Amino acid sequence: MKEKRGNFTGGIGFVLAAAGSAVGLGNLWRFPYLAAQYGGGIFILIYIILAVTFGFALLMTELAIGRKTQQSSITAYTQLHPRFGVLGYIAGLVPLIILPYYCVIGGWVMKYMMVFLGGAGKKAAQDSYFGNYIGQEWTPLIFFLIYLTITMLVVLGGVQKGIERVSRFLMPVLIVITIVICIYVSTIDGAGEGLKYYLLPNFSKFSIKTLCAAMGQLFFSMSLAMGIMVSYGSYVKKEVSLTKSVNQIEIFDTLIALMAGWMIIPAVYVFSGEAGLQSGGPGLMFMTLPKVFDQMPAGQVIGALFFILVFFAAVTSSVSVLEATTSMLMDKRHVSRKKACFILFGVSVVLGIPSSLGNGVWSHITILGMDFLTFFDFFTNSILMPIVALGTCILVGWVTGTKPLEEEITRNGESFPRRSLYRIMIKYVSPVFLITILVFYTLAQFGIINY
Ligand code: TRP
Repeated sequence: MKEKRGNFTGGIGFVLAAAGSAVGLGNLWRFPYLAAQYGGGIFILIYIILAVTFGFALLMTELAIGRKTQQSSITAYTQLHPRFGVLGYIAGLVPLIILPYYCVIGGWVMKYMMVFLGGAGKKAAQDSYFGNYIGQEWTPLIFFLIYLTITMLVVLGGVQKGIERVSRFLMPVLIVITIVICIYVSTIDGAGEGLKYYLLPNFSKFSIKTLCAAMGQLFFSMSLAMGIMVSYGSYVKKEVSLTKSVNQIEIFDTLIALMAGWMIIPAVYVFSGEAGLQSGGPGLMFMTLPKVFDQMPAGQVIGALFFILVFFAAVTSSVSVLEATTSMLMDKRHVSRKKACFILFGVSVVLGIPSSLGNGVWSHITILGMDFLTFFDFFTNSILMPIVALGTCILVGWVTGTKPLEEEITRNGESFPRRSLYRIMIKYVSPVFLITILVFYTLAQFGIINY
């Protein structure tokens, strides 16, 4: 049943596809609420430092592994070293757990899109609107299923090419709208203080938790440590420069996240002060932006447009992730695309239902004190992904050595500007950092230490 391994058309085609997968709810929904919660400027500073060191090294490694082995993650790791094959499986598990709750959030976006399109955006600006909405039983569940079905139909129909073309056009529009909203937000009375909170690092707010959150967010946002970029690497043509592509993906993804934070955080500061920043959590974007649109000239139209674009950004991400997991399943189990898709749909429904209901009727059921959605998010971003990243660093840094991948990276005779940084990151800094974080986070989560 082996289907031919497709190729991206040249460098820019690849960068756009990878960016389409990378830029999604991670940037627009997750980054702002984490930045708000973990101290604003200090979170941003740590995030940027991590992105250009750690994120760069890991993204480079994953793409190079994929292109070198021409395999998706499940088999790629085995090929590098038989004893590291298990990494591929853990990596493959990550998107399986993320996709369901990602679709729940995608469903929230759809609901807001409908509300604004129906001209009822004003209602959504009320304080209790979001909480009441996600606490309901049926509507969020139905929107989740619709969102998941759309994602699956795109993958089943093999029309992601079409979606990519549309999103290539929509992505710049999203950027323009985001800039417009950022500018407007900066002019609201009192936004200055909020901007300061967002941009100026306050070192007294630093904690290991900030570090953990920033690292988890980096993984999530760049689709790292989940096998996705390994699969992408296997589709990149040999003549494309990996170093350039990595830079472009990194910059693009980070800039969009920074703008999303700019659009949301100062506004939260104005509407509900520092307490609002702490307590917003996953609802931050949904609670804040309708208020901004409510005050903004032509806000209802801009709001509708905005949620449509967020919806598209989310769909391109979930489609690419479902596509990657589908082909993993096809490669490994030798099942048809259709069957693979249906299996994944089933898994997503089973895990997505508790993620949705956990905000309402099932909110009394918790795992380690977290509702289902928060738990799935924590388990992947703070446990599984650091484990995959750590294993990858040990494999590449100490078992195979970085040489084979460096050769892959420079195969067209190009230079590798951050080569020493790359080596040091993979061999020493990243493993130590990841182990520290895993140990701290686990101990803290089980209440053994307080930090
Ligand atoms: N990186 C993408 C974003 O920023 C999406 C993403 C990451 C994702 N991991 C995922 C989507 C797993 C679905 C499943 O939004």
